[in-house]
Formats: sequence, C-alpha cells, structure tokens
Amino acid sequence: MDNLTVIVLAAGGGTRMKSKTMKVLHPIGGRSMIGHVLRAVQAVEPQRVVAVVGHQREQVGPHIQELVPEAVLAVQETQDGTGHAVRIAMEAAGPTKGTVIVAAGDTPLLRGESLRAFAEEHEAAQRAVSILTGIVDYPFGYGRIVRNDEGDVEAIVEEKDASPEQREIAEISSGILAFDAEFLADALGRITNDNNKGEYYLTDTVQLARDAGLTVGAHRVDDVRQTEGANDRAQLAELGRELNRRIVTRWMQDGVTVMDPATTWIDADVQLAPDVTILPGTQLLGATVVAEDAVVGPDTTLKDCEVGEGARVVRTHAELAVIGDRANVGPFSYLRPGSRIGVAGKVGAFVETKNSTIGDGAKVPHLSYVGDAEIGEGTNIGAGTIFANYDGIAKHRTVVGRNVRTGSNNTFVAPVSVGDGAGTAGGTVVRRDVPPGALAVSSGPQRNLEGWVRKRRPGTAQAEAAAAAEEASVTGAAPGEREVDPGVGPDGRSASQS
Ligand code: UD1
Ligand code: CA
Repeated sequence: MDNLTVIVLAAGGGTRMKSKTMKVLHPIGGRSMIGHVLRAVQAVEPQRVVAVVGHQREQVGPHIQELVPEAVLAVQETQDGTGHAVRIAMEAAGPTKGTVIVAAGDTPLLRGESLRAFAEEHEAAQRAVSILTGIVDYPFGYGRIVRNDEGDVEAIVEEKDASPEQREIAEISSGILAFDAEFLADALGRITNDNNKGEYYLTDTVQLARDAGLTVGAHRVDDVRQTEGANDRAQLAELGRELNRRIVTRWMQDGVTVMDPATTWIDADVQLAPDVTILPGTQLLGATVVAEDAVVGPDTTLKDCEVGEGARVVRTHAELAVIGDRANVGPFSYLRPGSRIGVAGKVGAFVETKNSTIGDGAKVPHLSYVGDAEIGEGTNIGAGTIFANYDGIAKHRTVVGRNVRTGSNNTFVAPVSVGDGAGTAGGTVVRRDVPPGALAVSSGPQRNLEGWVRKRRPGTAQAEAAAAAEEASVTGAAPGEREVDPGVGPDGRSASQS
C-alpha cells in the first residue's frame, strides 16, 4: 500500500463517561484507548495519519502528537457528524490520492493485522468504498448493512433512520471504512444532514457510490468485538476484561504458565519469556519485562519492572525496580523506583526499598527500610534496619561494602559508609564511617535503674505488675508461669547485683 491515509475520529464529547478526562484518553490495558488505535494504525504503515479532535482537544491533541509525532491534527469545532469530521480531516490532509481508511479513536481492541487485511482487500478489489462489518447479537445502535437480492451492499442505514425490518438486520458497520480518496473527497461535498439526527453521516457515501455505479463491498470479520467502542465506564471495564483475556491467552500460547487467567492482568506492552509462571492475583503493568523461569505472584503488582531469569517475586508491590536473576523478593515487599536487586539477592518480608542497589547475593531479609543505599555483594543486613536517608532537608546516601554483617535493629544515619567485611552489633546507630573489618558498637552497657517504676509511675498497671513480681520474689513464689533467670549481663555483673 503505497498511498494510504488513515483518519482517526476523536472529536466526540464522550459525555457518558462522566469524566473530566476525555473518553479516548481513558486507560485500558496500560495505554489510552486512542493509544491502542494508533498502535494498530501503525501496522498498515500509512503515509499520513490525520486525527480529528474537538472536545477537550487541549488534552487529546498533545497526547496524539506524543504517540505519533507526524500525525496531522484537524480541528472540528462542532460535532456535526462523522461525514463532517472526515471532510475536515480531508481538508487538513490536502489533495489526497490512493486509499483513505477511517477509524474511531475509542476501539481499544482493534488489531493492526485486521486493518491491514481490510486495506489490502479494498485495494485489490479496486472499490470506491469498503466497509468492515460483522454479525452481532444485539445490533441496536449500529448502522445496519442493507444488501440487495444479489447480496451486494446497497447502503448503511443508521439506527434512528432504520425501518422496523432494517432494524432486524444483524450485520452492522463497525464504523471502520476504506475509500478511494478521490471518490471520498467528492462524496463528502454531496452528503447532507437531512436525517433523523440532523448530522452529516459518513455512511451516506455508500449510497452515493452505488448511485454512481461504483463498487462497494463489505469485509466481514468474525471477531467484530475488536471494533467495539467504549461509551461509558461499564463498557470500558468489559472491554478491559476482554482485552486482558486476549493478552493473557496470547502469552499462554507463547509458553507462559498462568495459573488463573481470570485474576491475572497483563498490560499490552509487557514482555514475558517462555516458562515464566504467573500465580493468581498478579498484575504485570506498563513496560514490565519478565525473563525465563521466573515465578511471579501470587498477589503481586509489578509496574515498569524488570525481573531476571529464575527470580521469585511473592506478594510484592514494585515500581521501576530491577530484580536480578534468581533473586528472591517477598512476601510483603515494597520496591519503589530505583530499586535494583542483584543476582541471587534477597529482599524479604516487610522490607521497603527505594533508589537503592542490593548487590549480588546480598540480603535484606526482614522488616527494614532501605532508602538511597548501596549494599555490596554478599552482605547481610540484620532484621529491623533503617537506612535513615533524610535529615529533614536533603536526602543522603549510605554505602555498605561487600560481605558485611550488620546486627539487628541498626540505624544507618546517612551520609555514612561501612567498609568491606565490617560488622555492626545489634542496636547500633551508625553515625560515623566504619572501616573495613571493624565491628561498630554504639549502644553502651545496659543499666537497670532498680525501683524506677515504683517511684516514677505509681498507681499504674505497670507499677502494679512490678510490685506483684517483687512480692513473689520475696515469698519465693514464681511470678506467673514463666520462670525468670536473671542471668549474667554482658559486662560480667549479675542483674541482681546492680
Ligand atoms: C457510527 C456509524 C455507524 C456505526 C458505528 C460503529 C455514522 C453516521 N455512524 O455511529 O454506522 O455502526 O459508528 O460504532 O458514521 N465523531 C467525530 N465528530 C463528529 C461525530 C463523531 O469526531 O462530529 C467521532 C466520535 O468521537 C466517535 C466516532 O466519530 O469516535 C463515531 O461517532 P459516533 O457518534 O459514536 O457514531 P455512532 O452513532 O456510534
Ligand atoms: Ca459510537
């Protein structure tokens, strides 16, 4: 197809969406509705794309130009019908030869290969007009395909103008038409708005072609759902489910195991390798890429993430994160933008990471916040560790070397660094750099201030419990069921001596 123009209609108000966001901009499967249409249009490699904008064009225009920078925008000030819209598009396109395809901007399931087959058939048959049609169970609202006794298409009759017999016709116009450009330009000047809607119907061009003795044909598709538009949010959700069903089915055909397709959501731009396994309740969104043998889910949301070969990601929420080969993430992990987990690294339960690198084989297994940190390979971070990256004004980085062992309940007050092979004791607040191989200890020896509760918290439940325990130790009875061994403190004194 060496001279192809595609016109995308997107001027309508979409009032039934009841939204401040223009209809065609509503997201579905990770793209806007019109984003799906423009993607399908790219598959026919048109010489020219003209988008008709009107309602909220200050939203719609820039969005279209971001997706298809070379697209021509044609402005339709008042929505006087599809025929009027296409006339404005043709004026914006300038003198046009070859084939013109008209499509609507609100049909997110439209597939490029269908458009291509349609355009090819239209050109091969050298028709003036071709209509993409389909048989539907509920033709209400659609333009009906009226055929003569020979089965040739005579006209498209709109719902409001159809006779009771015509309303019984189950073959409908999808709204996608192909034209000979010169015929179209001429016909658009001749259609009128003399109908029950008072609009200029693009579909009236069919009758004009027939009257002029030109060829009109229908290209009937089995999968007419792909041309369905979403007019309200209920239809949007239905189409979203159908789009998802198609995407999930395609990945299964390509070798991905999806345990529960009904609760698995995969956006259109996601990439999956063969032998990936997706467990129930998982959403793979945006530009997420998952490599071979990785297992994702259950109950996991990944947006714009990279998951390496053989990695496991369980009950996790992650955005703009990179998870290395054979890494383990979750359950209950939260990876925020800029998180990079190395090969065979681990981020465990109730761990939040942000803008941090966790080296190959490094582990943050439990209950921690890792912000603006670099953790070297083979390092283990103790349970309950906080990387205190924010001083109230600015963010600072913490660098932890390789094969470091940090104790539980540490706080790293950034900016600070810990050398290779160093360690920290439990409860350490690391405020100064730790040299390689050193053990950092910041908490002093424990002191017990005997009788503090009795003096400072009299009359409280705490004081009552303390008094009962003291009483029991005097009378020799065990307090409660648990036997308490005071033991010997780390400084060599027994607790009872201090
Ligand atoms: C249209 C067709 C109908 C077909 C149906 C398929 C006509 C007259 N009717 O009906 O045969 O079965 O689509 O869904 O073409 N638009 C503009 N400017 C306008 C009017 C419409 O840009 O002045 C855009 C709308 O935003 C929409 C598309 O054109 O994207 C279709 O318009 P709509 O009013 O929805 O047409 P239908 O009544 O659905
Ligand atoms: Ca419509």
